[in-house]
This record gives sequence, structure tokens and C-alpha cells, in this order.
Amino acid sequence: AFGKGGVLKSDAIVTVANCVRSLSGLSTRNGVDAAKGGKVYAENCVACHGDGGKGNQEMGAPNLTDKIWLNGADEAALME
Ligand code: HEC
Repeated sequence: AFGKGGVLKSDAIVTVANCVRSLSGLSTRNGVDAAKGGKVYAENCVACHGDGGKGNQEMGAPNLTDKIWLNGADEAALME
């Protein structure tokens, strides 16, 4: 729980959620720097979800580029 545990601040969560949307070719919110989210991804997510978000079966980490979403693809769902 990156948000609840205070590991990531809310602006970092917004940018990384938009970065995840961009991995699937979904639009990103105007004014949000998805590239900044890429840095957050590299620091916090890549170990499980892999380079480019292709996932890692051994970690049970889903592919974030396959357009299959466990809990929804909108920004709010990704932030949650
Ligand atoms: C310790 C390994 C690990 C790390 C680090 C991690 N994840 Fe995950 N992630 C998982 C696993 C495992 C699941 C599957 C959870 C489930 O099945 O309920 C998941 C699920 C997801 C999903 C849902 C995928 C889908 O197909 O709907 C998203 C989005 C996601 N992670 C994004 C992130 C982001 C963004 C970060 C970094 C801020 C991150 N994860 C860091 C392991 C990780």
C-alpha cells in the first residue's frame, strides 16, 4: 500500500497511475507529467512489473500493457 504506508506522496501516485495508463496506450490526464511517473515506476514498480511493465509471472505481477485490468483502468482505480 504505497499510499497508505506513505511510501509515495499523492502527486507521485497520480503521475505513476497516468504512466501505467500510457503503458496500455490509454490517454493521460492533461497537465500530468507521465514521464515523471516513469521515474516513480522505475524506483518502485519495476522490480515486480518489469521493464516496460510486461509483468513477471514468478512474482505474480501482472502485465500492465495487455489491456486486461483486475480492478479497472481509470485513474481513480489505478491510484487505489
Ligand atoms: C512486490 C511486487 C510489486 C510491486 C513492487 C508493485 N506491484 Fe503492482 N502488482 C503486484 C501483484 C502481485 C499484483 C497482482 C495483485 C492481485 O492479483 O490482486 C499487482 C497488480 C498491479 C496492478 C493491477 C494490474 C491489472 O492488470 O489490473 C497495477 C495497475 C499495479 N500492480 C501497478 C503497480 C505500480 C504502479 C507499482 C509501483 C508504484 C506497483 N504495482 C508495484 C506486485 C507488485
